Amino acid sequence: MLFTPEKIGSLELPNRLVRSATAECLADAAGRPMPRLKQMYQELARGGVGLIITGHMYVHPSGKAHPGMTGVFSDDLIPGLATLADTVHAEGGAIAAQISHAGRQSRGGMVDDPMGPSAYASTPPRLGAREMTIDEIEMMIDAYAQAARRAKQAGFDAVQIHAAHGYLVSQFLSPIANQRSDEWGGSLENRSRFMRRIIAAVREQVEPDFPVFAKLGIRDESEKGLSLQEGVEIIRQLPDMGLDAVEISGGLAETSAFNIAGDIKPGENEAIFRSWAQAAREAADLPVVLVGGMRSLATMEDVLQSGDAQLISMCRPLICEPDLPDRLSSGASEASACVSKNRCWPRKEDIGISCKCSGVVGKRHSASGV
Ligand SMILES: Cc1cc2nc3c(=O)[nH]c(=O)nc-3n(C[C@H](O)[C@H](O)[C@H](O)COP(=O)(O)O)c2cc1C
Repeated sequence: MLFTPEKIGSLELPNRLVRSATAECLADAAGRPMPRLKQMYQELARGGVGLIITGHMYVHPSGKAHPGMTGVFSDDLIPGLATLADTVHAEGGAIAAQISHAGRQSRGGMVDDPMGPSAYASTPPRLGAREMTIDEIEMMIDAYAQAARRAKQAGFDAVQIHAAHGYLVSQFLSPIANQRSDEWGGSLENRSRFMRRIIAAVREQVEPDFPVFAKLGIRDESEKGLSLQEGVEIIRQLPDMGLDAVEISGGLAETSAFNIAGDIKPGENEAIFRSWAQAAREAADLPVVLVGGMRSLATMEDVLQSGDAQLISMCRPLICEPDLPDRLSSGASEASACVSKNRCWPRKEDIGISCKCSGVVGKRHSASGV
């Protein structure tokens, strides 16, 4: 089933393999993509993946998470973003823009005045944050909507709202990060208001049939955090909110170790969020994208055949082997060579993510060095 077509809303994909959002760290200080980012997308598109989701892009200057993050916060950025979409389309691929705001998870030096749903005292490299005013909440909702408009204008095929991993939307959903006592905090209805308003505002900026989906942190993985039951309740409401699909993940920065789990071994501990995908499927009639430790063709096929998910998403394997989709479809590989050691992030002297396990995986990573 992996190499059969699937749809996200009106977007027709040639296969069910998705490159999950991956912060490439390949933009300049102003958020403009560097040429190597184009090269990376070209390689991914050539490698046969059905849909590329960009790394998270900041929707407002106050939402930059880390150095090298791509921006989507100004119309001036549209021409640079358009070169990314054009590059992927020239290879016959499809590309979605992941839009995000770091909120309280901004690293030191990125923004002057970090803010989140509630005040937050943190330890370096992250700063603390102050509580957002209601005017700022309204401004950020509009920032997501304008970012979606820009992505569409730049030629992207879809927009993914980042509502996972403890970034701003996920912060509002989480009773740990969101301790407000006004209409934006407290009950699940109030905590999900920010997300609902963003989706509605995004929908107003793009045509009704433009594909919009979310990566949702369905659980905080902490006793006091967003529970699975609450996450599933949000999923139940997503079709009415106007979303076309959902990718399942979880966790805040404090509990992130499990959403980028180490030492995944094909056939042993893959598909870490499969049970959550099952719960999501039961809750809503919406295509589910399963990310997190997907490594072998056998597991991917099993997940699709069972109906637990309709699309399979990978991050680290495609840093290591951008041509993995073609290798799986041709029979050249049965599984990803990724050893999930989490060494993908740039070292101090590097620009951009790269696979640093080439000794282990036999130099199957990108020829362009990205
Ligand atoms: C280097 C790196 C960058 C990532 N950047 C993002 C991102 O920008 N947005 C996002 O939603 N997830 C991001 N993730 C998480 C992945 O999309 C994915 O959810 C996680 O790595 C689990 O999938 P995997 O086992 O296929 O790597 C990143 C992960 C890594 C390793």
